[in-house]
Amino acid sequence: MSDLQDRIRAFDSDARAAFAQATTAEALDRIERDLLGRAGRIRDLFKGVVALPADQRGPAGAALNRLKTELEAVLASRRQALAAAPAALATDTPRFDVTLPGRPPRLGGRHPIYATLDAILRVFEKLGFDVARGPEIETEWFNFEALNIPLEHPAHDQWDTYYLDTQRLLRSHTSPVQIRTMQRLKPPLRIVAPGRVFRPDTIDASHAQMFHQVEGLMVGERVSFADLKGVLTIFAREYFGPETVMRFRPSFFPFTEPSAEVDISCFLCAGKGCPACKQRGWMEILGAGMVHPRVFEAVGYDPEAVSGFAFGMGVERIAMLRHGIRDIRLFTENHARFLEQFK
Ligand code: PHE
Repeated sequence: MSDLQDRIRAFDSDARAAFAQATTAEALDRIERDLLGRAGRIRDLFKGVVALPADQRGPAGAALNRLKTELEAVLASRRQALAAAPAALATDTPRFDVTLPGRPPRLGGRHPIYATLDAILRVFEKLGFDVARGPEIETEWFNFEALNIPLEHPAHDQWDTYYLDTQRLLRSHTSPVQIRTMQRLKPPLRIVAPGRVFRPDTIDASHAQMFHQVEGLMVGERVSFADLKGVLTIFAREYFGPETVMRFRPSFFPFTEPSAEVDISCFLCAGKGCPACKQRGWMEILGAGMVHPRVFEAVGYDPEAVSGFAFGMGVERIAMLRHGIRDIRLFTENHARFLEQFK
């Protein structure tokens, strides 16, 4: 019995394969004769059924008849398909029209974050700032301690980050590049440091776990808060437009003293209040201040001999303000319809 079942199964799949491969009506006729015809393979199978013990004969015969009907139906639809499109099915030649105009390849463009980053750097380069870079994987000393952020101090929380192991972490701001640059160079110096930073924030329209910052640092013999204001004012006017006004609000950062948060007058409503600035007339763009003496001590500079300013801005934030983008997640979702607007 099981030998017969195996033969029926093989017959079934052979038949279907043969139907599918046939490319002409004649070929189908031949296959039908060889398999399903009076003297075809199916006849041997029916003979096998007849040879079965009496109690198995009935069900086995019925099953084989059903298969036969089924295969005849497959055959019929294959015949129809061949009749409807004989040329296409009969050959493997792909159908295409060589006279059609080509499809233009979709060209990529620069990501809006990198376009913004470059525009920011260009302004500072004109002011004599060099571009410096540092690693995304940092140590506690560079990310915190050298910046006067004690590990056990509450101020630490603001720059909480991802640890790779007990020694290494992902930098939570670009300020460690201040430290690395001062270790490498002697004052006077002027650098901007672009790059990625990481924070375990809860993701929402204005928070991402990875974003970009541009750090600025200027150190010299008599660098003052007036220099900081001058440099940032030039930046704001160049980048956001010549009418832009700046506002410095007192703030706190462990690595600068005094510290400020810096707003620009809303460049859409010129300070009157509109949806973009949430009716405030001002937009916060960065944190800044005078380099803390402890930071100079950490890198071996003499705080009595030199002074300096530092600032840090979030690139996503600036791109969002500039282009009226409402959700930071758009930058990393990789939707062509969003990205193509900035090409
Ligand atoms: N590192 C600060 C931040 O990530 C920004 C900052 C840089 C503030 C330099 C002052 C001076 O929030």
